Formats: sequence, structure tokens, C-alpha cells
Amino acid sequence: MAATPNKDLIGREGVNDLDAILSMTNTDVDSAVHSIADNAAAIFTWDYEKGARPGLNKLYEKAKTSQWNGETDLPWDTDVDLEKVAQLLLPSFGVEQMDVAGTPLARWGDAEWLRLGMESQIWALSQFMHGEQGALLCTAKIVETVPWIDAKYYAATQVMDEARHVEVFAKYLDTKLDGYYPINTHLGMLLDDIVADSRWDMTYLGMQIMVEGLALAAFGFMHAVTEEPLLKQLLRYVMADEARHVAFGVLSLKEYYAELTDRELGERQEFAFEAAVRMRDRFLQQEVWDRLGVDPKIAIPLTQSSPMRSEFQKMLFAKIVPNCKKLGLLDANDMWLRHRFEELGVIQFEDWADTEAEYEAFALAELQ
Ligand SMILES: [Fe+2]
Ligand SMILES: [Fe+2]
Repeated sequence: MAATPNKDLIGREGVNDLDAILSMTNTDVDSAVHSIADNAAAIFTWDYEKGARPGLNKLYEKAKTSQWNGETDLPWDTDVDLEKVAQLLLPSFGVEQMDVAGTPLARWGDAEWLRLGMESQIWALSQFMHGEQGALLCTAKIVETVPWIDAKYYAATQVMDEARHVEVFAKYLDTKLDGYYPINTHLGMLLDDIVADSRWDMTYLGMQIMVEGLALAAFGFMHAVTEEPLLKQLLRYVMADEARHVAFGVLSLKEYYAELTDRELGERQEFAFEAAVRMRDRFLQQEVWDRLGVDPKIAIPLTQSSPMRSEFQKMLFAKIVPNCKKLGLLDANDMWLRHRFEELGVIQFEDWADTEAEYEAFALAELQ
């Protein structure tokens, strides 16, 4: 495969070029809407045989009995103490392991570190909310573009799930915290690329495999760390849905990718790599440092130097790498994506559990 240069895939040669990463910022923070052409034909199918794809049919039946109500099933009367939430979050920054001598952070006391934790939490939940809207739009697009009736049925249930996810994150930010951050530019570029691609499987690869694979890991981390009861339950409910969504991607693409040529698989490998880099860049949370008045070019290398922080960022790929392996994307074309994941330091997850059947384990007992 004639590999596309990094410059054309991610807009820069060096994957870790921090200056280039930070030179991209969201300059579109005041508009009320963002419009992107979705370039796809809507496909009717005249083959209505339900269950022709048993795995998808089973997932659809499961989704029908797993719906919950964001207004009435969550304890919205909970008082949220953001300072307490932030205190539990701070260890994940590995503050102890950073050498802050000679930097603005050397002057920070407990109040400033606590503020970092609070802003990081609001930022993280804001990006979850924007990502959920991306999922809402992508899944509506899949209903139109996927040629199989079982997949259209399932995708329709996911549209409802994603509407609920946007709704609950927006309500949490609005009523329990103090507003939200605009979309991070790296996440925004990725969502635009996914929506703009004309090929139906690229919506799945970008959203169900990459974005939702990462979300499942990130929600799992926040769910494990937080003791805030409303957020904990909200995340638990969302994770039960997300596990089905990732399974939907794996089930659908496994069949389709078995038929593709090396060149076609190569395009998918490149797309997966671009998505991985965008998501890694987004987790640098440059907007939080801007808001705290610390130059991200100073703060980000410090956080990245903490082994705890860099392990946390790698863990976010714990679902993505095994799912890419299951789809045959790691080793096609002389192991192209394997080598890229090695460079990103995340290949060690390749033999972790994939997510094709994991949704059974994530199901909510009370809804079964
Ligand atoms: Fe979602
Ligand atoms: Fe989802």
C-alpha cells in the first residue's frame, strides 16, 4: 500500500508535534450552529427479511427492552459538590510525579490544583456531550445509508439512545455544574470527517469503533473514580447503551471488511489512525489550560511527563485496539496500523476483550 503521508492524514508530519497540535484551535465558538455536508445517498432496501443477520437482530431485540428515561430514571434531586468530585479526580493527573520547578505551576497551591480538577471535569463532560451529538447525527445517517434492514432497525434504536445521552449530559452540565466548554477542535475535526465521508462503513468505523470505543473506556474510568451518585448512575446507564453501540459496529463491519481488497482496507486503516490521533490530541485539554491562564505549551508537556497521566491516556484505547484487530485492520498491508498503534504506545491492548459480546455484561439488571 502506498501510505499517505502524515501531513495529508492529520495535517502535520510529526504525530507528537505539540506546536502543531496547539496551533489548531476552535475559532468558531460563537456560532449557534455548525453545518457540514454529509455527502451520502440514502439507500432503500426491498429485502425486508428480519433476522437475516442474527447477531444484529439479537442486538435490536435487546435494545428494545433496554430503553430508559433520562428525566425519570435518574436522581436529579441530588446536590452535586463539584469540589468533592474534583478532589477524587486529581490523582489521575499524577501531580506528585510532575517536576513543576521553574514553571508557573510551581506557585500553585491547593486552590489552583482544585480548580484544575473542577475545570477538567466540566471540560470532560462537555466533550462527552458534544461527542454524543456527533453520535446522534452519525446514527441517523447510518439509518439512511446502511443497505441491510436489520442494521437500519438497530441504528434506529441507537438514534433514540443518543438523543437521551445528549439530553442527560446537557441537563447535568446545565443544572448541576456551571455551563459548558465549546467543542474541542480535534474532536470537532474528527466528527466533521466522519459525517462528511460518503462511504457507509466509514460512519461506523469513525463513530462506533473509534469514538464510542474510546467513550466506553472514558465513561468506565469516570464511573469508577467518581462517588457523585447522580453522575455515577448516569454514566452506568449510558455505558449499558454504549456497549451495544460498539458491538453494533464490530458485528456490521466484521462481515463487510472480510470482503474488502487490501487497498480498500488501507483506506480504513488510515482513517482509524487519523481518528486515534485526533482523540489523543483532544485529551490534552488545551482549553482548560487556556482558561486557567497557563500556557498549554508549558503545562501539557508537564502532564505528559507523569507516568500516571500517560498510562491513563493509553487506557482510553483499551477497547479500540482489540476491536480493530477483530476487524482485520491491525495487520493488513504489512501491519500498517499495528505499527502506527505501536508509535502511539497502545498496541499492548490488542488481546484484551473485544466488544462484540461485552454488551451482555454491561446490561442494566433492573431493566432485564
Ligand atoms: Fe452515546
Ligand atoms: Fe453511543
